[in-house]
Amino acid sequence: MTRSYDLSGKVAIVTGGGKGIGRAIALGLAECGAKLILCSRTKEDLDHTAAEIKQKGREALPVVTDLMAGDQITNLVETAKNTYGRVDILINNAARSFMVPLMDLREDGWDKIFDTNCKAVFLLSRAVAKIMSEKGGGRIINITTVGAVRGGAGMAVYHASKAALSMLTKCMAVEWAPINVNVNAVGPGLTRTAFSQPIWSNPEVEQMVASRIPKGRIAEPEDIVGAVLFLCSDDSSFITGESIYVDGGSLANY
Ligand SMILES: NC(=O)c1ccc[n+]([C@@H]2O[C@H](COP(=O)([O-])OP(=O)(O)OC[C@H]3O[C@@H](n4cnc5c(N)ncnc54)[C@H](OP(=O)(O)O)[C@@H]3O)[C@@H](O)[C@H]2O)c1
Repeated sequence: MTRSYDLSGKVAIVTGGGKGIGRAIALGLAECGAKLILCSRTKEDLDHTAAEIKQKGREALPVVTDLMAGDQITNLVETAKNTYGRVDILINNAARSFMVPLMDLREDGWDKIFDTNCKAVFLLSRAVAKIMSEKGGGRIINITTVGAVRGGAGMAVYHASKAALSMLTKCMAVEWAPINVNVNAVGPGLTRTAFSQPIWSNPEVEQMVASRIPKGRIAEPEDIVGAVLFLCSDDSSFITGESIYVDGGSLANY
């Protein structure tokens, strides 16, 4: 697929950029000309995606970061600032979940999900928005999920954290519109990554899920990229506080 937006000269941070949807977004941004800063806890994933980006003739800087640690978020932002002097795009993509009923979920499980999916987004976005405002503005895209607006059993705290992230998206958009930082969300439906492997690795379960999706299949990571690139582009400069669901029509069928 050829990506047609022009993001040349832009500097983009992608959290969870080493694999899955984050990797696909990072490759899409690179194809449009952006320089990438990739973070996650797994160096091998980051190095692999960075190498793919460099093969395309673009720049990629892996920064091993645990987003649950505030000092490592500070290090990520300082590294970006010291290397490029600016950040134009932030993709808050990293997230975690446990498939556990509420009755069995440990208290520290709640904390790990909310610390990664919400608190880290707040801390990183605030630090990056300050840099963006010094350079005239920027774009923040939070990766949510259809589960932000649709309940379900087994991942309740994940759903709650993503609903909170959707509201955080709106509030950040309102507070940071005056500094020209647009904040939007992209919410995938079920997408074929390691995250959702317990679901799609069983062909019968995948078929059952796909049968409820109007487009008749689950998403591939590359399906999510176009909406993100649009929200990073000049074509969306008057859009802020919005969510785009990339779900093959499943929410419309609800
Ligand atoms: N796959 C789906 O069906 C689906 C559906 C709707 C929404 N989403 C959303 O899409 C986004 C990407 O998910 P995915 O499916 O691509 O999952 P994935 O393949 O499991 O990737 C998740 C990424 O987040 C990183 N991460 C997790 N905890 C981290 C931490 N504490 N610090 C730094 N990085 C951390 C992981 O890296 P390390 O573990 O190496 O740190 C990994 O790179 C998430 O926001 C998810 O909620 C996914």
